[in-house]
Amino acid sequence: TGQVAFDTELPIPPLAEATIDAAGRRTFELTAQHGRREFRAGRQTDTYGFNGDYLGPTLRARRGEEVGIRVRNDIDEETSVHWHGMHLPAQADGGPHQPIAPGGTWEPAWHVDQPAATLWYHPHPHGRTEAHVQRGLAGMFILDDDRESELNLPREYGVDDIPVIVQDKRFDDDGQFDESNTANAGMLGDTVLVNGAVGPFLSVNTRYVRLRVLNASTARTYYFGFSDDQEFAVIATDGGLLESPHWTKRVLMSPGERIEMIVESTPGRATVLRSFPPDPDERVFGDSNGGGDSLDILELRPASELTDSSDLPEQLATIPRMVEADATVTRSFSLQGQKINGQRMDMNRIDETVLVDTVEVWEVSNDHGQYHNFHIHDVQFQVLDADENLPEAKGWKDTVFMPRRSRKRLIMRFADYVDPTMPYMYHCHLLRHEDQGMMGQFLVL
Ligand code: C2O
Ligand code: CU
Ligand code: CU
Repeated sequence: TGQVAFDTELPIPPLAEATIDAAGRRTFELTAQHGRREFRAGRQTDTYGFNGDYLGPTLRARRGEEVGIRVRNDIDEETSVHWHGMHLPAQADGGPHQPIAPGGTWEPAWHVDQPAATLWYHPHPHGRTEAHVQRGLAGMFILDDDRESELNLPREYGVDDIPVIVQDKRFDDDGQFDESNTANAGMLGDTVLVNGAVGPFLSVNTRYVRLRVLNASTARTYYFGFSDDQEFAVIATDGGLLESPHWTKRVLMSPGERIEMIVESTPGRATVLRSFPPDPDERVFGDSNGGGDSLDILELRPASELTDSSDLPEQLATIPRMVEADATVTRSFSLQGQKINGQRMDMNRIDETVLVDTVEVWEVSNDHGQYHNFHIHDVQFQVLDADENLPEAKGWKDTVFMPRRSRKRLIMRFADYVDPTMPYMYHCHLLRHEDQGMMGQFLVL
């Protein structure tokens, strides 16, 4: 499976224009709307997009700025827009408690105060998240900061700093997205879209390119590497830069996760970003959840002469290690049967209450015969006793893969924002599972 032609240039989502008011607040406009796109010759697919027919513009802001977003809903059903990975007040989070009616608008605002990172945004309406993301409502949200800006890293957007939004689709005979259930994990596709294009190539003109890879698929977990097996440097996980580049040949990404990688090119020699079978005998993924699939994603096509790039810095960010001794509370979350701790999501039930500015350990166990993942709103966490061969051992995370019958211990601090009535969410980011109720709510007091 997975052979593609690489006959179309990789589209780069435009950077969203912002207006900056007298107080310095940066305001973006996003409209969720209906669209149509010809993904495959001669077939029109009905889609959703932000400010266009599919996906959305890349939002970009800097640590220290006030950001406001005017979100308009022009689709014919209720939706919401969540800023995944962002530290912000619960009222601005965009979860199921901030629905936007058809024709309505919503204007969240917050102060950006977290490290440079590759975040994203997508709808989060109760029970309908999978369908809305699947039809095209998603986009990247890049944060910058002073530390990242002073490093010698590729950072020219669309030139050597490239958003790579990966989604798998299936099309029915009419060319529409096939949303039927194909696996326990949810909708697994046989066609990969990168930034909304099938089988794209990227023209490379510099020795290094930085790929900001976002797994915006609703269900599929990828195991990325290159067709020539070259090593690449992972420089960032979900919440920002690592302390130093993590060299590897493969990286696993479950839905919602981001990785920034630096890839070195050889003049004139193409290579293919590929998803290798993460689990050929399906022991971790369970039966028919895509563990045996191989998919070609994107061809990197270097010119015969490349502009030299500066050497990669050995020191990236500074990450203060969080230690268990500082934790005042340990909570357990058991993933089982599309439930968390035996319960399905209830909009009117608060599952956990957290004290602001305290450190907690969340022990997540997957007692299930299939894989899940786990995402927490508002915070970036660290993974305790993680496998040192994995980037998740070294950087900030907001979403982690949970192999079947596994346990991970996450440590985090809930800071700044208190709201006695408005909760944040935690959930499995396999969106069908989330919609089925594998989600809970916490308050920060
Ligand atoms: Cu990316 Cu609660 O979501
Ligand atoms: Cu989120
Ligand atoms: Cu799940």
